Amino acid sequence: MAKKGRVFSGIRPTGRAHLGNYLGAFKNYVALQDDYECVYCIVDLHALTTVEDTLGLKQNTYELAIDLLAAGIRPEETILFVQSHVPQVTELHTILSMVTPLGKLTDLPTFKEKVRQNPNNVNYGLVGYPVLQAADIALYKSDLVPVGIDQAPHIEFTREAVRSFNYRYNTNVLIEPQMKAAEVPKVLGIDGKEKMGKSLNNTIEIAATPEETRKRVMLMVTDPQRIKRTDPGNPDVCNVFSMHKVFTPQADVERINMECRRAGIGCVDCKKIYAENLNKALGPFRAKRAEIAAQPDLVPSVLADGARRARAIAEKTMEEVRAAIQLP
Ligand code: TRP
Ligand code: SF4
Repeated sequence: MAKKGRVFSGIRPTGRAHLGNYLGAFKNYVALQDDYECVYCIVDLHALTTVEDTLGLKQNTYELAIDLLAAGIRPEETILFVQSHVPQVTELHTILSMVTPLGKLTDLPTFKEKVRQNPNNVNYGLVGYPVLQAADIALYKSDLVPVGIDQAPHIEFTREAVRSFNYRYNTNVLIEPQMKAAEVPKVLGIDGKEKMGKSLNNTIEIAATPEETRKRVMLMVTDPQRIKRTDPGNPDVCNVFSMHKVFTPQADVERINMECRRAGIGCVDCKKIYAENLNKALGPFRAKRAEIAAQPDLVPSVLADGARRARAIAEKTMEEVRAAIQLP
């Protein structure tokens, strides 16, 4: 079947994947394979902007590849590769940097946030982060970029960089991508307040054992107004309930909704049901993950093959780019 176009996304190798990654990104990446030609890139160079100790970088990259494969990425069709294995991206980064006003980069909310978090390490690479991202996307002539809504400024920046390049060199070799925001609800951490994220230590890791998962679920904050077991609860403000809607059969969700409101069910029992359903849903992923991890040659060979296929596309784009600029 003819595919509708090319999807590209980059994923930072930041460590063990959590439920937010799984629902917000992985599931989406997997589903897009049915309709699009997909290129997924583990962005180790981007990670260098904030990672000071690169000791875990290789391990994290492999772990992420295992997660993606276990979640259902099909490497026979989809190109899965590591950013630094295709050095053409750094060349396009340099070229795009020439059509990028510096102020545009330092004005980005994502940059300001990084400066706030890390005032002592405002490196040049951090300023250029979106240019490298634009190079990622443009190098593969991507039509669609599935990302979280927080990445909207970077996708808009990419569109502008592509337009500026094409205008400056009077060409149309680069393509303006569209953003595709994930259609999943924002996944909150066990605190029930902040978005689930590694730095906040509020995650539920998807590769954890069922027992570890249960323990984390039992720590989840529920309706803060519900103090005593006999208090009625309000599922509308409860993060456990939001997750039931994702993992629990519809009839049970409705029952929990009613029982909670009349104090017919307690939060402890409610969480036990959620933990069980979550473990059941993650079962096939975990089984596949263990299977892949037991074959140590598999991931390196998948990534090598992905890099080969990615390089072929990248080099062709760069030949067109160099020709458009009339580089000698
Ligand atoms: N900046 C993205 C993030 O923080 C990661 C990323 C790098 C990316 N290159 C990309 C996303 C290209 C989409 C397309 O999540
Ligand atoms: Fe949330 Fe369930 Fe407790 Fe109701 S019973 S407040 S839905 S955890």
